[in-house]
Amino acid sequence: MEKNFPLRELNTFGFDVKAKYFQELKSMDDIHQLVDNPEIKRSQVLILSGGSNILFSNEFYDGFVVYPNLKGIETLEESDKAVLIRCYCGEVWKDFVDYTVSKNLYGLENLADIPGKVGAAPVQNIGAYGAEVKDTVYQVHTIDLTTGKIKIFSNEECRFSYRNSIFKQYKSFIIFAVDFILNKNGELKLDYGNIRNYLSNNNITNPTLKDVASTVKTIRAEKLPEVGVVGSVGSFFQNAIVSEDKYLEIKKLYPEVPSYPADNSFIKIPSGWLIDKAGWKGYRENHVGVWDKQALVLVHYGGGNPQEILDLMGKIQNSVKEQFGIEIKPEVNII
Ligand code: EPU
Repeated sequence: MEKNFPLRELNTFGFDVKAKYFQELKSMDDIHQLVDNPEIKRSQVLILSGGSNILFSNEFYDGFVVYPNLKGIETLEESDKAVLIRCYCGEVWKDFVDYTVSKNLYGLENLADIPGKVGAAPVQNIGAYGAEVKDTVYQVHTIDLTTGKIKIFSNEECRFSYRNSIFKQYKSFIIFAVDFILNKNGELKLDYGNIRNYLSNNNITNPTLKDVASTVKTIRAEKLPEVGVVGSVGSFFQNAIVSEDKYLEIKKLYPEVPSYPADNSFIKIPSGWLIDKAGWKGYRENHVGVWDKQALVLVHYGGGNPQEILDLMGKIQNSVKEQFGIEIKPEVNII
């Protein structure tokens, strides 16, 4: 256990945050020992993974940061059609995706290059370019830090939905491994956004799994700031889910508004579009701003503090509310 531990390298916003207590966990033994540590029972606990979806609102975290970092990838079962793979929480997500693509396994190719680690992927049901991790998760292995009990969640028990799962509530549960079912032959998902355009512009008429993964990487690199170079957490806000009436009201004023169907006849409007339309794209104030290629992304240019991002967040929310009557919610986990 370390004290007053610097987290600057462990949050992709790159803020100079310190934690009162910090412990990295590299094995199941480490986890069991931590359960018996009296300090963990007394403290407020935060389970941190890649730090790519977190905003510390304060520069001192007055609690215990737990950093599970178990490594390993194992093939558990294999049939003619599919493979069951266990991946431990500390593996880097994008490397895991590259590994599955190199083995010609279908399912994760549209999720290429998402920052973060495998253990965090189920928490917010990461998604991009027409895929969500929930479509490949078989089960999730957890241990509850408060009791030391292991619990395995089936896909259904994870209660996945858009950028959400049961693990957002179960804050004392460490996800130490995730089992995925990946197919040996699958259908490629090419319908989201520009994927087909990119492929045809590059004269790829019969795309392979690798073509899709590399197309997704190219599109991401064009739209999103590079992790480790510019501080960000990818999408800062969730997309807005509105009633059909609200959508029609907006469409009357802005016929070009993009939209996607959401559950229960609600409609999803990209918050990036709302923020862009409200004039924020490329806005900069001191050390923080709105990314000029994707308005859903707030960035920290260095030397700033979390309050600057929170202030900017509030201004954007107010402005979108005023112009469209929609309350956009953060997607990032604010601590
Ligand atoms: N748009 C604008 N202006 C902008 C940004 C977007 O007009 O500044 C419009 C686009 O033209 C498009 C629509 O909004 O019509 C959607 O944009 P995009 O395809 O870039 O996706 P998004 O809805 O803004 C979501 C995810 C991203 C994911 C992309 C691609 C959320 C909160 N975000 O963004 O996820 O990469 O789709 O699938 O659902 C993340 O979670 O960190 C993340 C980056």
